Amino acid sequence: MDSDATGPVLVPLERIPMSLQVALRAVEPAAHDAPLLIVPVVSGPTVPALLQSIDDAAGGSLAAAWQHADFTGKRDETLLVYGSGGRRVLLVGLGDAGKLTANGIRRAAMIGGKRARTLGAATIAIRWPDVEIDGERMAQALAEGVAFGSWHFGDLKKPADPPKAPVSTVDILVKSVEPELARGLARGNAIAAGQAFTRRLQVLPADTCTPAFLADRATELANRHGMKITVLDRAAMEKEGMHAILAVGRGSAKEPRFIAIEYEGAEGAPVVLVGKGVTFDTGGISIKPAQSMEEMKYDMSGAAAVLGTFEMLGTLRPAVRVVGLIPSAENMLSGDAYRPGDVVRSHLGKTIEVLNTDAEGRLLLADALSWSRRYQPAAVVDCATLTGAVVIALGHTLSAVMGTDAPLIESLRRAGEVADERLWELPLYDEFRDLIKSDIADMKNTGGRPAGSISAGWFLREFAEGLPWAHVDIAGTAYTDREPATQVKGPTGVLVRLFSEFLLARV
Ligand code: BES
Ligand code: MN
Ligand code: ZN
Repeated sequence: MDSDATGPVLVPLERIPMSLQVALRAVEPAAHDAPLLIVPVVSGPTVPALLQSIDDAAGGSLAAAWQHADFTGKRDETLLVYGSGGRRVLLVGLGDAGKLTANGIRRAAMIGGKRARTLGAATIAIRWPDVEIDGERMAQALAEGVAFGSWHFGDLKKPADPPKAPVSTVDILVKSVEPELARGLARGNAIAAGQAFTRRLQVLPADTCTPAFLADRATELANRHGMKITVLDRAAMEKEGMHAILAVGRGSAKEPRFIAIEYEGAEGAPVVLVGKGVTFDTGGISIKPAQSMEEMKYDMSGAAAVLGTFEMLGTLRPAVRVVGLIPSAENMLSGDAYRPGDVVRSHLGKTIEVLNTDAEGRLLLADALSWSRRYQPAAVVDCATLTGAVVIALGHTLSAVMGTDAPLIESLRRAGEVADERLWELPLYDEFRDLIKSDIADMKNTGGRPAGSISAGWFLREFAEGLPWAHVDIAGTAYTDREPATQVKGPTGVLVRLFSEFLLARV
C-alpha cells in the first residue's frame, strides 16, 4: 500500500498560482483607464479637493454622501461610485489623518482589494494616498494590503458563470517612481507572495496536504530559489532518534516527515525558524469532539508560515542566514497509535510521559528544537497553533509570545507592530514548571487547563535549554471563521509579514 496516496484530487492542487504583481506608474488618476480606481481618503467634514473631478462626473453624489454622513472617510468605510465613462471608483476611508500609520494604509488596501475581488475587477488602479507617511513604507503596505485582501481559493469550486476574474494587475498611481518607492514595492510584493503561498498551503484539505505533500512543496520552493533542502522520512527519523515526532505520526497512514530548508544570504550564526506541521489533528486516542474538527486542517499553519517566509527570502535575497525546520505528522488514531500513559524518549534524550495525545504539537516541536542545536543558531523562534488556551487569553487579535531571550522577544514584538501581526508576551515564570512534573518521566505533555499556553511554553523551554529562543502561539490568529472587513473567511497567513520584518531588520 502506498501510505502517502492522496484522496481524489479534482484539480492539481500542488500548482501554486501566479501571485498578483503590483506596479508603480507615474500616471495621473484621471488619465488611467483601469475599470476600478481605488482612492484611499482621510476623514473630514467635506469632500476632499482631490475627489472634486470624480464628484463632477458622478453628478454630485459624493457631496451628498458627505452631507448625509453616509461616507466621510472614517476608518473601514467604503463607497462605490461611478465616474466618467462608467469607471468604478471605490473610496476607502483611512480615518483621522493625525492617527494614520502605514498599518492603516495596509488595512485600507486590504479592504479595497477584497472589494475588487468581489466586483470581479481584474485590473485596478490605486491612487497614491495624500498623507504624511514614509513613501517606502506606504508603497510596501499598499502592495501587501491589496494582495492580501484580494486573495481567494477557488480551485475546488466550478467556475462562476460568467467567470469572475481574479485581481491580477494593480497599478499604484504616483507622481514619479522614486527609488525608495520601488524598494518598498519590491518588499511588499515579495512579502505578499510569501503570504499567499502560506495561505494556499493552509487552506488545502488534509487529504491533499499531507506531510509528504508539505515536503514536496518545500523541495520545489528550495529548488526554485537555489536553497539547500533535507527531508527525513520515518526510517531516517528513527536513525536520528526523533521518537517524539514518530510517536505522534505512528497512528496515521500518512508518513511523517522532517524538513530542513536553508537560505544562505550571509555567513555566520543563522536564525532558525521552526513551524508546527500537523496536517490534521484529530486529537488521537484523546480524540477531539466532532464540532469544528475540520478546522484542524489548519494545524500546519506554523509550517506554512515558515515556508512562506522562505518564499519571500528567495525573492528578496537579503543578507541573512536562515534555517527553516518543519516537523510534520498527522495526529490520527489506529491500532498502533500512541496512547495516554506511553513514555517517549525525545531526540534530546529527555523522556516525556504522554498524558493526552491531543497535546501533540509540543512533541513535534521538542525534537525540532533539539535538532536546531547543530546550527549553533543566533536565535531560534518556533511557531505553532499550539493551544486552545491562547484563544481564551488573547482571542483572535494577537498571538502569544514567550521565551528565554528578552531582546529576541522585543525584536519579534516590534516586527509584529510594523507588520500589524501583533504579539503579547506571556510569562514563563519558574513556578509554572511544576505544572508539567511527571511521576515517572522527565516531564509530562500536559499541564491541565490553568495557564495552558504557559505550560506548553515551559514544555518547549525544556528542549530549548541554552538556546536564545522564543515561541509564538498562533492558535487564535492563523485562520478566521468570521468574516473580517479585510479578508475572506479562512487562512490568514499570519507571521509571514512579522517574520519578514524581523529578518529584514537584521540585515
Ligand atoms: N492544535 C491544537 C490547538 C488548537 C486549538 C489550535 C484550537 C487551533 C484552535 C493542539 O494540538 C491541542 O489540541 N491542544 C490541546 C492541548 C491540551 C490537550 C493540553 C488544547 O489546547 O486543548
Ligand atoms: Mn492537538
Ligand atoms: Zn494540534
